[in-house]
Amino acid sequence: MGSKAITKTQNQNRVRWLVRSDMDCVMKIEREAYGEYAWTRGEWRDYLACRSVVALAAEDIHDNVCGYAGYTLHKDKLVLDTIAVDARRQRQGVGESMIRLLKRKLTHQKRNRIELMVTETNLAAQLFFREMGFVCAEVVRRPYPGFEADRLKFVFRFDWEDFGNG
Ligand SMILES: CC(C)(COP(=O)(O)OP(=O)(O)OC[C@H]1O[C@@H](n2cnc3c(N)ncnc32)[C@H](O)[C@@H]1OP(=O)(O)O)[C@@H](O)C(=O)NCCC(=O)NCCS
Repeated sequence: MGSKAITKTQNQNRVRWLVRSDMDCVMKIEREAYGEYAWTRGEWRDYLACRSVVALAAEDIHDNVCGYAGYTLHKDKLVLDTIAVDARRQRQGVGESMIRLLKRKLTHQKRNRIELMVTETNLAAQLFFREMGFVCAEVVRRPYPGFEADRLKFVFRFDWEDFGNG
């Protein structure tokens, strides 16, 4: 993965490929966002080693990493595996910047949808994804072995929205 800047939005959040030196910031945000369910550094390493995985970092105007996202490329869709924003930088458009970039990947790569799972108790994330144009397509009962929680599958389809200048 290179470090080339790939988008810059009106609110000055730059989204670029995640690089190894971002991992300390990622782990800090990860622990704050997911608590006991946070991925360990080793789990992140294994995840990033997958060939079909792409990871993004969002930077603020001071070039500090304030958010990240990881997604898996499938033949006809992108699966968003993880996304989080520094608690001090939430509600400032950082998450939206990353989702906008993902949506643009759909136009370029002929993949027609983005899918993800949200824990049914994570209302903030559900509201965020609904605001981003996703719809809840399915309730998935206990999809992950060892975890009690049911999940909501959210889907964004390319043809659900006129991207305009996106
Ligand atoms: C979900 C998350 C990534 C959103 O990132 P963010 O940068 O705060 O989101 P944005 O500022 O881009 O929000 C865009 C819009 O989504 C909606 N939204 C975002 N967070 C919301 C919340 N907590 N409550 C209600 N609406 C929300 C709002 O409409 C918001 O626009 P507004 O602030 O102008 O009202 C962030 O809250 C986060 O990291 N949460 C912890 C980790 C997590 O739950 N990840 C998702 C796992 S599936």
